Amino acid sequence: MTDKRFHLAWFMNFTPDEWRAPFGQGGYPWDGQFYIEMAQTLERACFDFLMIEDKLMVPETFGSDRKYSLANGMMAPKHDPAPLAVAMGMATSRIGVVATMSTMAYPPFMLARLSSTIDSLTRGRFGWNVVTSAEDLAAQNFGMDKLPPREQRYEMADEYIDVVNKLFDSWDADAVVLDREKGIYADADKVRSVDHEGKYYKVRGPLNTVPSPQHRPVYVQAGASPRGRDFAARHADAIVSVANGVDGMKAFRDDIRARASAMGRAPDEIKVLFCITPTLGETEEDAQAKYVRETTSDHFCNDVLASISAITEIDFSLYDLDEPLPERLETNGESGTLDKFQQWGSGKTLRELAAAQGGGLVSSLELIGTPASVADKMGAAMAEIGGDGFLLTTPVLRVGRRYLIEIADGLVPELQRRGLVRTEYTHQLLRDNLTDF
Ligand SMILES: Cc1cc2nc3c(=O)[nH]c(=O)nc-3n(C[C@H](O)[C@H](O)[C@H](O)COP(=O)(O)O)c2cc1C
Repeated sequence: MTDKRFHLAWFMNFTPDEWRAPFGQGGYPWDGQFYIEMAQTLERACFDFLMIEDKLMVPETFGSDRKYSLANGMMAPKHDPAPLAVAMGMATSRIGVVATMSTMAYPPFMLARLSSTIDSLTRGRFGWNVVTSAEDLAAQNFGMDKLPPREQRYEMADEYIDVVNKLFDSWDADAVVLDREKGIYADADKVRSVDHEGKYYKVRGPLNTVPSPQHRPVYVQAGASPRGRDFAARHADAIVSVANGVDGMKAFRDDIRARASAMGRAPDEIKVLFCITPTLGETEEDAQAKYVRETTSDHFCNDVLASISAITEIDFSLYDLDEPLPERLETNGESGTLDKFQQWGSGKTLRELAAAQGGGLVSSLELIGTPASVADKMGAAMAEIGGDGFLLTTPVLRVGRRYLIEIADGLVPELQRRGLVRTEYTHQLLRDNLTDF
């Protein structure tokens, strides 16, 4: 019998929690406790990993001002994902923790050392969401006026990954001998310099951390442009994506697998996970009413537009809410998210586009219903796509305990009853759980 199970992961932002909604009441997320409980809840539901988004600026594209972002707690404030990943990882034992870190921001040596340290602290459950940054505003915090063009960012990132891989390989797995009799901690013959001198980076090495349980973190990537997809297909263990419906998801996954094969990789080594944001209710009508209520509020519409503005550097406040977009928009930033959002040719007004994102900022599939009916739809979609799972994405960047419980204690048990997701972890290492099926 073929294994019909698929993977579940969670995408979150280290930003204010659901401070505005009646069942949110906000907390003080900055001490990490709210998010630590989130990790524990998702571990109870046997998620593969949770992934912490990151951006390195206070957005000011929407309305050419940082006022909206700050007044609404929308993508700002935002705290550093690496220490949160450690806190979450040390309060759990099986779920993977993935932090976003930009190749623009960290020198490769620092990233390799940090990742190796967190992988050891979490006993082999760390992942790195590899991003190249997508905003001039972020570049301006790192000594540049503008972000390099996409092609060059990926060229730099290819070399960057080459360097960090060399650093992870600079210690043999058995380099630590801990021989008390001979008085040897590490065998110097098993630790080498890397002496990398490339177009963009020059690094001597070796790394000064011991080999971590996974040797290197799980690499997660979200390339969407042709160049980005090649990058992801070459390096990633997991690819996260937004796509349009079942056909769009199948086409994206098939494309990634073909690119991976052409590069000599086994496509099954790569898990492709699609963003979804289910809206769950006690009954179908209840869920529908909730969806309409939530996605047609002015707050929702503005929050979606402000977020899309921030990650594409296109000011959506300049367009009429009740007209279709006048032209197909392009960005040097997050192209996949923009394409999914603008649904070019659909004739929808901007307000309709914001409401049509499936309950999240972008969702690959509209999922509205009872836990049982949504579980059926997820199972049917995955059967058609061929794999590999879903990335449950925080509803427009804010989440409260209630939504988490609906997923972990409502939806997941329905999926488990259908044999669609795991009921217990088989392995200790994140990579092993990801490749288990
Ligand atoms: C689910 C998902 C999560 C992403 N998370 C981040 C993030 O945390 N930080 C970031 O700078 N970019 C993030 N991105 C953007 C991607 O890294 C990438 O730039 C984008 O998908 C566009 O692909 P392209 O660079 O090939 O055009 C994310 C994209 C997706 C689809």
